[in-house]
Amino acid sequence: MTIRVGVLTVSTRGAQGKRPDESGPAIETLVQDRLGARIAQRRMIPDRQPDIEAILAEWADGDAMDLILTTGGTGFAPSDVTPEATRRVIDREAPGLVEAIRAASLKVTPHAMLSRAVAGIRGRTLIVNLPGSPKAVRESLEVILPVLPHAIALLRETPGEDERHAPETAR
Ligand code: MTE
Repeated sequence: MTIRVGVLTVSTRGAQGKRPDESGPAIETLVQDRLGARIAQRRMIPDRQPDIEAILAEWADGDAMDLILTTGGTGFAPSDVTPEATRRVIDREAPGLVEAIRAASLKVTPHAMLSRAVAGIRGRTLIVNLPGSPKAVRESLEVILPVLPHAIALLRETPGEDERHAPETAR
């Protein structure tokens, strides 16, 4: 089944038209090329926590998206509130994804420590924060791409369909 992806670029300067969005398109290219994903929604909004929360909730609750990838607003600046917004809307955290991203990114730059990115699940939609720069987006997404199809298959599972939990080696 095709993976449906929402891409949310969080950038005050971008939303004001002062900077072109390179990170959103970088996400789109990677998920399309590597996962055969379909882009269900794309938007660019300023770093305003209530707006980020509203869009994440609306997209996840619409049952039209398996995965929402945000880019930007994960750092230490006072305006960086994407993780706080994400934490407010998720039902369950998925820390392994961001732990893996930070671990791999640390091999590229110590600045990886400065991303406060969060990942979690709302209903049947996985939400993952990525950092803001196109370079960081590519390096981060690269880490989790291999597990996303299985993650999404599990989210779509109906109770009782335990066989899909079979370990990798047993398949
Ligand atoms: N992760 C990777 N893989 N590569 C990077 O270049 N940049 C870091 C970090 N994560 C970076 C990275 C930097 S400089 C910052 S400040 C934080 O992500 C937060 O970025 P954001 O505020 O744009 O979300």
